Amino acid sequence: MPVSAENVRSLQPYDIRVLMAVERLMRRYRWVPLDVLRQTTRFSESEVRYRLGRLMAMDMVKSSTVPYEGYQLVFAGYDTLALHTLTRRGTIRALGPLIGEGKEAVVYEALGFGPVVLKFHRVGQRSFQTARRSRGYMPDGGHFPWVFASTSSAKREFEALERLVDEIRVPVPLDQNRNVVVMSLIEGTTINRCTLPDPAESFEQVLGFVETAFRLGVIHGDLSEFNIMFDGEECWVIDWPQWVEADHPNGEEILAHDVANVLNHFEKKYGLSCPLEDAMARVIG
Ligand SMILES: Nc1ncnc2c1ncn2[C@@H]1O[C@H](COP(=O)(O)OP(=O)(O)OP(=O)(O)O)[C@@H](O)[C@H]1O
Ligand SMILES: [Mg+2]
Repeated sequence: MPVSAENVRSLQPYDIRVLMAVERLMRRYRWVPLDVLRQTTRFSESEVRYRLGRLMAMDMVKSSTVPYEGYQLVFAGYDTLALHTLTRRGTIRALGPLIGEGKEAVVYEALGFGPVVLKFHRVGQRSFQTARRSRGYMPDGGHFPWVFASTSSAKREFEALERLVDEIRVPVPLDQNRNVVVMSLIEGTTINRCTLPDPAESFEQVLGFVETAFRLGVIHGDLSEFNIMFDGEECWVIDWPQWVEADHPNGEEILAHDVANVLNHFEKKYGLSCPLEDAMARVIG
């Protein structure tokens, strides 16, 4: 579901207070009881109900009556809190059009000091189960709602961008809050959707990026033509939340998978061929 800039703008300070209280209390309750919300916000019951009604009408919060009356933050509410914070910090001034939607993220253009990109991470409930196992996001046991898993994903992506930005072409990481990463906008398109003018040169460039990232201790983990962009002159690598450290126990396998995806694309589309062993030897050095 897209983020509604209009809804975000129409929020009043009391709405935000209730939304923030629900967020905080979700660390302790799967469904935050009405009573607890009332005590935390120190609003009257009718005020809390009125605010919750508004938030539910905007699909930012949902409610349950079983086993008791309780409330839960949903993605749009979490997105809204992140936008609120990023706006207050001055990172962004306006939300622009939707430019990409994937399995685990929605991407918007926005206005900061210049045009920027907002990536809203949405590690859904189902993939969260996998994420919990494979990425070690969550402390074992302990109640930790899935909305917060998206924050870990955003933090991880931001960290990779920070580590790499001075060395290879990745978006410049500008800010991060909750499940949202703010980064520079690449004026281009993913390479599955364009024809490269000099595929051999681009191929070399991308392998060079993989090599440098590896030297810096980072393996992308989801590299393919869908996560490489071309701006008319240069390639850029995007979409880093699933990166792993180079010394990860399955590092070599994950790296080989990344490299094979790149080789396959350039072979199928441009007839460039390079044995995987040679490419791996070059990347590992
Ligand atoms: N910095 C950027 N500048 C321009 N466009 C971007 C940028 N980041 C992402 N995009 C666009 O948004 C799309 C989706 O972004 P990204 O690949 O990061 O996430 P995703 O594919 O949705 O995530 P997942 O791999 O979990 O499905 C990209 O294909 C690209 O078109
Ligand atoms: Mg992607």
